[in-house]
Amino acid sequence: MKHLFYLNKFFWKYRILLAIGTVFIIIANLFALYPAEFVRKAFDAVILSMNTGNTSSTSKILVKYGSLIVLFAVLKGVFMYCMRQTIIVISRKIEYDLKNEIYQQYQALSISFYKKNKTGDLMNRISEDVSRVRMYLGPALMYAINIFILFFLVISKMLTISTTLTFYVLFPLPILAISVYFVSNTMNKRSEKVQAQLSDITAVAQETFSGIKIIKSFSNEYNALEVFMNSCKSYTKRQLELVKIEALFFPLIISMIGVSSVLTVYIGGIESFKGNISTGNIAEFIIYVNMLAWPVASIGWITSLVQRAAASQERINDFLLLTSDVENKITKHTPISGDIIFNDVNLRYTDTNIQAIKNLSFTLKEGETLGIFGKTGSGKSTIANLVCRLYDTTTGSVSFGNTNIKNLNLNSLRRAIGYIPQDGYLFSGTIRENIAFSSDTIDNHKTIESAKKADILDEINDFKDGMDTIIGERGVQLSGGQRQRLAIARTFYKNPKLYIFDDCLSAIDATKEQRILNQLRLESKDRSSIIISHRISTLKEADKIIVLDNGKIIETGSHNELLNDKGFYYKIYQIQANKES
Ligand SMILES: Nc1ncnc2c1ncn2[C@@H]1O[C@H](COP(=O)(O)OP(=O)(O)O)[C@@H](O)[C@H]1O
Ligand SMILES: [Mg+2]
Repeated sequence: MKHLFYLNKFFWKYRILLAIGTVFIIIANLFALYPAEFVRKAFDAVILSMNTGNTSSTSKILVKYGSLIVLFAVLKGVFMYCMRQTIIVISRKIEYDLKNEIYQQYQALSISFYKKNKTGDLMNRISEDVSRVRMYLGPALMYAINIFILFFLVISKMLTISTTLTFYVLFPLPILAISVYFVSNTMNKRSEKVQAQLSDITAVAQETFSGIKIIKSFSNEYNALEVFMNSCKSYTKRQLELVKIEALFFPLIISMIGVSSVLTVYIGGIESFKGNISTGNIAEFIIYVNMLAWPVASIGWITSLVQRAAASQERINDFLLLTSDVENKITKHTPISGDIIFNDVNLRYTDTNIQAIKNLSFTLKEGETLGIFGKTGSGKSTIANLVCRLYDTTTGSVSFGNTNIKNLNLNSLRRAIGYIPQDGYLFSGTIRENIAFSSDTIDNHKTIESAKKADILDEINDFKDGMDTIIGERGVQLSGGQRQRLAIARTFYKNPKLYIFDDCLSAIDATKEQRILNQLRLESKDRSSIIISHRISTLKEADKIIVLDNGKIIETGSHNELLNDKGFYYKIYQIQANKES
């Protein structure tokens, strides 16, 4: 239960609506209560007139009570509508708040959080778990208040009529509540299994559709079908198990209500023979029993809703109460220097325990270009991660000018950096939107200029819709080189203080590559840039090149100096030069 306390702040936020909702519940219940009394009065009037033989006014009395019952039913309906409109609306509002809060938290958390948690889990927290919590905030709360008020009103009314009868009539109800609790618990468990299997079917189908090219070319359709069929088969099995228990639900409630009604008539009959109550009271009691039965049944249901919500909220809190590994301590904007200093930096990735960077020191002066060269897995991208502060160093420091990176505002830092990762991820949408990703408004002229600088404008113009071409799923398929160049155009549009090209020219041919690099040189004349590559041709113009191996710098110098050293760089240069010629 304590996990649900987190939600109290939302109740407090909507306290006025909540209070109004409670008033509506009370009024609705009052209108539900009185018709039972009218029935009794009508009953007694009829019996009296039969006994006395004076039937002249009976029909008048019946019409009066009949109309009152209808009127009260209508009024009850109106207030029940109002109560749903307040309490259920509150739950939707809190659902909205909570979803946004979780989403904001996700965005604030560091990359390592995403490495540790599966995307499916993140999605479940924000969709399924929030929905379950909403069931607690809305229906569970509403019915709980309702039951509380109804019990108070109905039982106190019953007690004023007959204590004995009240006792016998209420006797089967706790049994009903407990059995409904067990039934609905089992129902929930089974329906969760059904849901899980449904996700499995979706996942299987999704994978098949994504890999349809491979499946067809391997002529593997039958196997794919078999996997799908098996998944469907166990879905059906689970669904049938659920149906079995669901089938129990209503008969159980109906039979318990039946037992109570029989008791009412039997005990009521005896009592009325004794003259303790009137015949009309029996009819009145039957109505009370029916009024109580559903709420009692729903106690079991509510309990299991609350339990599920608590489990969900616990999972949500696991994420909500996390603090990011990369903390943004500085709230106000900080200027970012173009000098970058790595001082004896070590980085061990906590999730894989790989020491990706070892005792690394170097300095990059504003306006200079740093080349980083090394084999796959040597730690090149890790340096980019550290410069963008996607990760913090394990020991040692990264500084911009005289300021440690940890004392820079994270937003200022990242706004100043134009980072292009190897797999230049593009969002679904138009090419224009992708290029102008860094700003809220799209500057068409700048978009075209950036595309030109990234040497992709001609190809964009060749598309039927030009800049408005949709990319991503159901859009045009771009080649690897086109993607990389769009990612580069996106960064040129951003016009950052520091460029980081992380192996993002690998799928681009040599002439285009040189044109883009020339452009980069122009753009970053008085700014710093870092170019990461495993191709020497990409780096050779850099002011300084560091050669990495296994997270350590093994050589450093300009292209010519490194060639003169005749070391690792020189060896690779010869291999690559031979390949190209
Ligand atoms: N986010 C990460 N979490 C854990 N380990 C990582 C992560 N990124 C890279 N590594 C590991 O760190 C080492 C260096 O990787 P990386 O910097 O990507 O090399 P490069 O860019 O030179 O290919 C590799 O062994 C890689 O498996
Ligand atoms: Mg890399």
